[in-house]
Amino acid sequence: MAGAETSLFIRTLKGECTNRPPVWLMRQAGRYLPEYRELRTRAKGFLDFCYTPSLSVEATLQPLRRYPFDAAILFADILLILDAMDRGLRFETGEGPVLEPLEKASQLDKVSRAKIADRLSPVMETVSRLKQKLEPGFPLIGFAGSPWTVAVYAIEGKGGTDKSRPKLWAYTKPEELRVVLDIIADVTIEYLKAQIAAGADALMLFDSWAENLPDNLFEWLVIEPTKKIVDELRASGVDVPIIGFPRGAGAMLPVYVEKTGVTAVGLDTGQVPAFVNSALPTGFPVQGHLDPLSLRAGGQQMLDRTDEIIKAYQANNRPLVFNLGHGITPQVPPEHVEQLMAHIQTYDR
Ligand code: CP3
Repeated sequence: MAGAETSLFIRTLKGECTNRPPVWLMRQAGRYLPEYRELRTRAKGFLDFCYTPSLSVEATLQPLRRYPFDAAILFADILLILDAMDRGLRFETGEGPVLEPLEKASQLDKVSRAKIADRLSPVMETVSRLKQKLEPGFPLIGFAGSPWTVAVYAIEGKGGTDKSRPKLWAYTKPEELRVVLDIIADVTIEYLKAQIAAGADALMLFDSWAENLPDNLFEWLVIEPTKKIVDELRASGVDVPIIGFPRGAGAMLPVYVEKTGVTAVGLDTGQVPAFVNSALPTGFPVQGHLDPLSLRAGGQQMLDRTDEIIKAYQANNRPLVFNLGHGITPQVPPEHVEQLMAHIQTYDR
């Protein structure tokens, strides 16, 4: 059976430059697809959906039937580990995730590691079923949230906030926050090892709330826990590419790349190609970074910006996995994805 190493996606993450960049889109499975919305009605809640391998497998495969994406991403959520740790996670319609706000680190140590692994085992079942269903050698991305982003949800009890509670912890009780980050990192390491054992070909660490942190905090909230995960995965023999996505890292991007040891870095919508090219090591692979709103608007501006992104990195001999700068939103017309994909395929010629 051919391994994923020969796929365009994995070759690019390992440093190869090709005429056409491989492409997949964050949240490529989800509500912008009518077939996902239909499938979603078959489970009571979003968590049940994630824990039902037959549904998660189908959700992962749906976008691949429509578009020539170069990779699949496991259908799950970065917050599942908080559910497995009994943090009272609920997904309220129209409101996003809600949890019991964390008061102290010890509340994260109530469920044994064995029990957490057991509760997350349906995800591993989804990964192994997907590896059987996908074409041999077609890459499957496993993922988790980075400890800081997961900690923001755990401490705030929701997302989309100004993060003042967890940031205040960093100033007023740093030891407590360090323990929180450490526990989340340890659980995440085991979770990602299990995804690899089940067959994932690459890993992505989503640090969606890495934005707007002072550099001194960024060092220990974002870089250190990410480095711990990368180091421990490598020490345990995991050798697949690891993509870090420190959304909103801005000028801290090169420091993140230098210190965390990730294989490639996901760029957010606000990153600047000329800055990226001058600040990152020669040949260091990047992933990104079309504005999701440009995709929603569609048309010529989307194709022009797509060319701009691809050409900027090609001119610098920098491997690029084409993607968005953040996830697809539910309002994106599926035809726009089709138009984008058709355009990128022309680079094959
Ligand atoms: O196609 C894919 O990318 C696969 C699956 C995936 C989901 N969430 C499914 C999902 C992935 C990789 C994620 C990551 C995720 N989840 C992140 C990091 C990326 C980012 O967007 O910054 C974050 C922050 C979350 C947390 C989360 N999950 C939120 C804030 C929400 C509610 C808001 C929203 O976008 O709906 C979710 C729910 C969620 N996760 C949905 C999906 C398809 C929608 C819920 C539904 O279908 O009922």
